[in-house]
Amino acid sequence: MSCAGVSAAPSLWRLRMGARWPLSACGRRISVRPRSSGTTLDDVSRAAVDRIIRVDHAGEYGANRIYAGQMAILGRTSVGPVIQKMWDQEKDHLKKFNELVVAFRVRPTVLMPFWNVVGFALGAGTALLGKEGAMACTVAVEESIAHHYNNQIRTLMEEDLERHQELLQVIKQFRDEELEHHDLGLEHDAELVGA
Ligand SMILES: [Fe+2]
Ligand SMILES: [Fe+2]
Repeated sequence: MSCAGVSAAPSLWRLRMGARWPLSACGRRISVRPRSSGTTLDDVSRAAVDRIIRVDHAGEYGANRIYAGQMAILGRTSVGPVIQKMWDQEKDHLKKFNELVVAFRVRPTVLMPFWNVVGFALGAGTALLGKEGAMACTVAVEESIAHHYNNQIRTLMEEDLERHQELLQVIKQFRDEELEHHDLGLEHDAELVGA
């Protein structure tokens, strides 16, 4: 791929963000703020954003697989539409992180095949306990993800609020939707599992 092709996506992203990303040369960042360690503030920022996008991409993929597993067992029951609604939002979350992986040229985790199998097994396995089991799984997973997103929001705000504004908006929206899933789980008897 040409230099222009390689850098087009992140350049568009920078324009949309209106942020102060440094110049790049054929996809390579030009470091302008040397630190005593030999790394730069921009290297640190870039590494943090890379890590966040990689982890969230994997997390949203895993969430999709969990809901796929739940739907395989409970899709035709009374909670099928509730699970489908949450799964549809997870599909949107994954779509967005698929876009961000490309825009930021982040290497996805090598554990994707693992999350594929484990996510589905977790969703299907808890759904086999009944709708209460599936909803208890949803509550636990979504609570953990919302907590994780809150930590990332704090990190990005402390690092550079203006620069990370668009990524922050994405994560805040998804955090709110994960909390809605958490509450839906409670409304559909998650706490009755094993009762
Ligand atoms: Fe999600
Ligand atoms: Fe969710």
